[in-house]
Amino acid sequence: MGAPSFMFSTLLLLLQLLFASLPHHRTLTYAADGSWQLLQKSIGISAMHMQLLRNDRVIMFDRTDFGPSNLSLPNRKCRNDPTDTALQVDCTAHSVEYDVFSNKFRALTVQTDVWCSSGAIMPDGNLFQTGGFNDSERRVRGFSPCRTCDWNEIPNGLTAKRWYASTHILPDGRQIIVGSRGQFNYEFIPKNIVANKINLPFLSETNDKGIENNLYPFVFLNVDGNLFIFANNRAILFDYVNNIVVKKYPMIPGGEPRSYPSTGSAVLLPLKNLIAAAIEAEVLECGGAPKGSYIQSLKGTFLAALDTCARIKITDPNSKWVMETMPLARVMGDMILLPNGNVLLINGAGSGTAGWEQGRDPVMSPVLYRPNNDISSRFEVQNPTTIPRMYHSTVALLRDGRVLVGGSNPHAFYNFTGVLFPTELSLEAFSPAYLDAKFDNLRPTIIAPKSMSGIRYQKKYTIQVAINSDKVDESSVSVTMFAPAFNTHSFSMNQRLLVLRSDKVTAVGNSTYNVEATTPRSGNVAPSGFYLLFVVHQGIPSQGIWVRLR
Ligand SMILES: *[C@@H]1O[C@H](CO)[C@@H](O)[C@H](O)[C@H]1NC(C)=O
Ligand SMILES: *[C@@H]1O[C@H](CO)[C@@H](O)[C@H](O)[C@H]1NC(C)=O
Ligand SMILES: *[C@@H]1O[C@H](CO)[C@@H](O)[C@H](O)[C@H]1NC(C)=O
Ligand SMILES: *[C@@H]1O[C@H](CO)[C@@H](O)[C@H](O)[C@H]1NC(C)=O
Repeated sequence: MGAPSFMFSTLLLLLQLLFASLPHHRTLTYAADGSWQLLQKSIGISAMHMQLLRNDRVIMFDRTDFGPSNLSLPNRKCRNDPTDTALQVDCTAHSVEYDVFSNKFRALTVQTDVWCSSGAIMPDGNLFQTGGFNDSERRVRGFSPCRTCDWNEIPNGLTAKRWYASTHILPDGRQIIVGSRGQFNYEFIPKNIVANKINLPFLSETNDKGIENNLYPFVFLNVDGNLFIFANNRAILFDYVNNIVVKKYPMIPGGEPRSYPSTGSAVLLPLKNLIAAAIEAEVLECGGAPKGSYIQSLKGTFLAALDTCARIKITDPNSKWVMETMPLARVMGDMILLPNGNVLLINGAGSGTAGWEQGRDPVMSPVLYRPNNDISSRFEVQNPTTIPRMYHSTVALLRDGRVLVGGSNPHAFYNFTGVLFPTELSLEAFSPAYLDAKFDNLRPTIIAPKSMSGIRYQKKYTIQVAINSDKVDESSVSVTMFAPAFNTHSFSMNQRLLVLRSDKVTAVGNSTYNVEATTPRSGNVAPSGFYLLFVVHQGIPSQGIWVRLR
């Protein structure tokens, strides 16, 4: 053909030569997988906190003390606070309920400042949000899933002030709330009758003077009933019943901080063999900011984020961190478990730290991590978004397998112009590659039941699925259960994926199979409450159904 195409191929050749001559630090695997969809240009608030409820609605909120949002409150239920320095009578919403399947949202009313708070779903499916800033420091807020419900505020629901604390649901149905700015202790809701505020010296030991680096600690319920608590660059195994440190884990090699504001992220990797006497549990932590990053960013120097992950078997008598290198460095990223047992790293920045105006170089591409692959082939870079999701961005796994992404506000106000990264009011969905139509022939569809309201521990259940394939057996099918997380500040509290033993797969007719699976052995492995149950065939998950484990 003509000259333009010749010129184009010459240019391509030159580009290839140029790139071939650059040093390669990392192996980048551009699988060009996954796709993005803009769901809402604006929901009126910036989704700084997110929680999926059992009615497929996601509760979101930002803060109340930084001026009017872009969403009015119905019935003018204004918030009247004479000490608010930004706006004393605020008739706008700072919380919304987003309905996943109708893609609609409605304004909710919060009366005090939910900023940088925590939360967890109780076994009955009600959300309890805990703490916040200023007039909300000791608040507990309840939210029951229903079409017209709104927040129910409980003043003095907490014993201590909780701002930047982490919450975990416990096997006995209570919540534990760990840490906070200036609080080196933990407490429970409902409250202990005697002494509800209990000291935890580990939190003062991990507090870097003036910078902290130990806020929003990564708290996971270990399968032995103790809590794995990570702050800054190290962790303990903690018996919260007797207030005893059972074990001190080694420092992550290199000793770089991983907790707020050097914000990395962490997950408890999928739990398997859930009725075995000895279940293994592993934690994976990725990214963060190197020492000094916070101070440097205040002076206008934005240090590169950490590009390492650290993985540890927390149930091992001699636990050791094993280091891995990510294809993209990331601070303020989120880690979310996918129904097929992979981990998605998403959102965040390539340099700087958490804090107002302190992050740079948004990381637009999510990265998939396959925990069961050989250590040399676990990471895979996914297709990028076009919207930077920096400080105060959020994520939630949905029942249909999509990943809801929102928020991002690195400013002390709602700032839409004249700033590097405008306050984001939009919502997007990232669809991992397993949702591609090319996998439709592998995809299971759960026929029955449509939900399960009372599944018990260590019992067999049968799920009927349709799969357009005549080679379906125990080795290609698994059943997983996902505990929806409270996500904020790069941490998904209470996130858990259980891989159930699938005992038997029986063909019962035209592309229809009965899959038998056994539930976990106890509440230490899986606290009672609502889970999303998925059937996974050759790595491709079905849509989930809601089940209640009790
Ligand atoms: C939010 O509202 C302001 C003021 O009305 C407007 O200028 C801005 O465009 C809105 N932003 C978004 C993202 O909707
Ligand atoms: C909240 O902040 C305002 C403004 O700084 C202050 O006047 C007020 O005392 C604070 N309220 C509480 C309960 O801390
Ligand atoms: C951000 O918004 C606040 C409140 O509207 C305003 O005072 C401030 O000047 C804005 N900042 C920028 C950089 O525009
Ligand atoms: C078998 O199932 C497929 C879809 O799962 C359906 O299209 C087809 O009509 C069914 N055939 C019979 C004989 O039932």
